[in-house]
Amino acid sequence: MKKIKLENRAVGPFPGIIVGAMMNEKPTYTTVGAGGCACLEPVLCVSLKNTHYITEGIVQSGYFSVNIPSTALVKELDFCGIVSGKNVDKSGLFTPFFDMAGQAPMIEECSLNFLCKVCDSKEIRGFTMFFGDIVAAFVNEDCVTNGKPDPIKIDPVIMIGLSYCNLESVVGQPFSEGKKLNNFDD
Ligand SMILES: Cc1cc2nc3c(=O)[nH]c(=O)nc-3n(C[C@H](O)[C@H](O)[C@H](O)COP(=O)(O)O)c2cc1C
Repeated sequence: MKKIKLENRAVGPFPGIIVGAMMNEKPTYTTVGAGGCACLEPVLCVSLKNTHYITEGIVQSGYFSVNIPSTALVKELDFCGIVSGKNVDKSGLFTPFFDMAGQAPMIEECSLNFLCKVCDSKEIRGFTMFFGDIVAAFVNEDCVTNGKPDPIKIDPVIMIGLSYCNLESVVGQPFSEGKKLNNFDD
């Protein structure tokens, strides 16, 4: 296959995440593409510019939430990424809910929610990568099939290049598809 050389930019794919935290005693929300899973333990990470409004809230409170919106919330996802809490109060955008495990607002309208307690952080070129232990996790009842979170019902937004996309279908199961390659025995 002939390859076309691209600019050195991270084009994705990345899951669309809305991070929540308390700031000045109110919920605030910020869109993040730079987020995901940090290790085999239940630890998530999000990378936030040091000057963002929400960043100080996470530093002060020690908690953040990772909320996965469905594609129906793509406008809200984008809005939280183009407007700063320094200029606009984003607290009324969503219905917040809380858990006893810690003080970060989670978003009722989002399919999946993870409450994270900061366990580490690392500065990288004007951003802080926050690592957080998952201390509570929730899924919408209507996004579950046979007791398990259903990827198609969760309907996450995937960011790639300059587009927001959806998941079309399930194409395989982890730790299973690879075994079907007939040149390899385990
Ligand atoms: C699709 C998208 C992805 C983004 N990803 C990040 C990110 O990973 N880290 C970051 O610091 N800012 C990211 N941003 C920018 C912030 O979300 C944006 O500057 C926001 O207005 C900051 O809000 P705040 O000042 O209220 O915290 C992203 C924006 C968009 C639209």
